[in-house]
Amino acid sequence: MTHRKPFVAGNWKMNLDRRSAVDLVARMREHLGSRTDVDVAVFPPAVYLDEVGRAVAGSPIRFGGQNCCDEEAGAFTGEISAAMLSDVGCPLVLLGHSERRHVYGETDELVQRKVGVALGHGLEVVLCVGETIEEREGGKTEEVCRRQLTAGLSGVAEGDMPRITIAYEPVWAIGTGHTATPAQAGEAHGYLRGLASGLYGEGVASGVRILYGGSVKPDNVAELMAVPDIDGALVGGASLKAELFLPIMDLGKH
Ligand code: PGA
Repeated sequence: MTHRKPFVAGNWKMNLDRRSAVDLVARMREHLGSRTDVDVAVFPPAVYLDEVGRAVAGSPIRFGGQNCCDEEAGAFTGEISAAMLSDVGCPLVLLGHSERRHVYGETDELVQRKVGVALGHGLEVVLCVGETIEEREGGKTEEVCRRQLTAGLSGVAEGDMPRITIAYEPVWAIGTGHTATPAQAGEAHGYLRGLASGLYGEGVASGVRILYGGSVKPDNVAELMAVPDIDGALVGGASLKAELFLPIMDLGKH
């Protein structure tokens, strides 16, 4: 069986300020030391990327944009390009987050274009998918995950798959305190891995990391991580405070 190194990422959304962002990564850096048993990343607000990049330089902590534009450059007021993320040294970008899809109306097609542009600029993509509560209750969880994943990956060549991480984030679990049970998450992750296998073959699919996101906390991370198809966590609220995020980086083991 392919070993997939756990990956814990903090999505700060529109939170923190310059000072608290730098303090938080300093605490993370100190806690992590030179450990290599887990991959750690943060997704700061774009205006702090440069500063966070400097604060993590030389450490194993990576950082990325929370979004990027589907266009290369030009008259797109308010947008940030993949080239700009790459220019400030970001290795990563988060795409298709449910807040982008549901608050800002991003479609599968738009997310797909963003994935293509981001990969074209050498970025690694964390591609988020997940169903709303109405979709889950309507028995549409798999249909939604299939639609979002297949669209998001539709332009992605097999050779680029090592630069893709999938995040399963049920919308009803995000910021609500209602974490998916390990069984619910495991079922969705297994389904997503099966889809990846159908698209790229089992060898590729068994190497893709699939993160769970939605109310991950220090006291539920261990049980989620115990599920074979869950390879890490994408953490919102609990990534904003060192006392919550450091134990999550430890996967709840200490
Ligand atoms: P949450 O957010 O941990 O606050 O539920 C997760 C996310 O939106 O990535």
